[in-house]
Amino acid sequence: MKDKQIERLIGAEQKRQRRVINLIASENYVSKDVLTALGSELTNKYAEGYSGHRYYGGNEISDQIENLCKERALKLFRLDAKKWSVNVQPLSGSPANLAVYLALVPSGVEGKIMGMSLDHGGHLTHGHKVSATGKFWTAVHYGVNRETEQLDYDEIMEIAKSEKPNIIVAGYTAYPRIIDWQKFRHIADEVGAIFMVDMSHLAGLVAGGVYPSPFKYADVVTTTTHKTLRGPRSALIFSKIDERELGKKIDKAVFPGLQGGPHLNQIAAVAVALAEANRPEFKKYAKQVVKNARVLADELARLGWRLVSGGTDSHLILMDTWRGGNPSTSLGAGGISGKTASDVLEQGGIIVNKNTIPFDTRSPVDPSGIRLGTAAETTRGKTEKDFVAIAKQINKILKSHV
Ligand SMILES: Cc1ncc(COP(=O)(O)O)c(C=O)c1O
Repeated sequence: MKDKQIERLIGAEQKRQRRVINLIASENYVSKDVLTALGSELTNKYAEGYSGHRYYGGNEISDQIENLCKERALKLFRLDAKKWSVNVQPLSGSPANLAVYLALVPSGVEGKIMGMSLDHGGHLTHGHKVSATGKFWTAVHYGVNRETEQLDYDEIMEIAKSEKPNIIVAGYTAYPRIIDWQKFRHIADEVGAIFMVDMSHLAGLVAGGVYPSPFKYADVVTTTTHKTLRGPRSALIFSKIDERELGKKIDKAVFPGLQGGPHLNQIAAVAVALAEANRPEFKKYAKQVVKNARVLADELARLGWRLVSGGTDSHLILMDTWRGGNPSTSLGAGGISGKTASDVLEQGGIIVNKNTIPFDTRSPVDPSGIRLGTAAETTRGKTEKDFVAIAKQINKILKSHV
């Protein structure tokens, strides 16, 4: 590179990534092919509009790239192109979710979004008050059960019946368990709401066949492509084809509603990642991600750490570092806060993020827990024995700071 300053910083980040154990649940390592597509000349091209209907000339290649990406997205999740459509232009997960609401929820206070609250594991874009999604629409929230720390479908039904939302969102940022999509479908049907699944965290696991697919039950499915799916930063919006014309409305909301020109380099890189995720090796990878998370959870629990909901069915774990939870250890109220835990682990070469736990008594800037995920390190070839060692290392670092 001619720009030595940026070259040096990229080099430093490459070294940092190689040096650390990365347990950030929303990160992964993409292939060289994905990087090549991202860094290609496709970034030079303007392609406002959709395939066959562009506002600029010179888009014959753009159309092929976008069409191929859409084909691969439908193929990966075994969707019939007569029953599902997909928009591949959202720039990331947050604009994708915003586009769905813009398309399908009446604007203003009478439009109502129902999602999980942020402090129980939901995402900002599920109607949090600091997000546009909570400012432009009325938002109501559900959480997890205090005892089980898992979804309580009876309670969700009650809230839905009393609030009558236009759209119900399931799929989260920090929920380690299986979500019963069918129960959500039933709840949405009871109140006449659209059922939207945000499978951002789960897409790679769904593609790999190790987590239940939401497509049988959802009306709309959004996903980022850069977490377990192991693609570039981007997002997809799938919608059912029927008389409601969801896809048409969503296309209009993405462009011209929210965005201008699509990022073609990103769309090509997504297409690469989707093809990679459709290979048998990816199934093996997804299986290993979940196995590794179980082993990490079991070992941490064995060492005396309290895990929210008692464990995991996916790639992520929420660990209560503050209460610890095992009276036989030195932990207990006044263990180690999520922020301190994250800081001291980073000093020890392990990268995690601090995270609120359900019913947290501490503040989000220094909450009671940390979130751990296995997708990135599994990409690097780590297996069960490595995760037993990682759990021991985490335990050692944290206990020396309690
Ligand atoms: C469930 C969920 N939805 C949406 C997003 C937003 O994605 P992005 O950061 O690409 O805007 C995230 C990101 O963490 C997420 O976890």
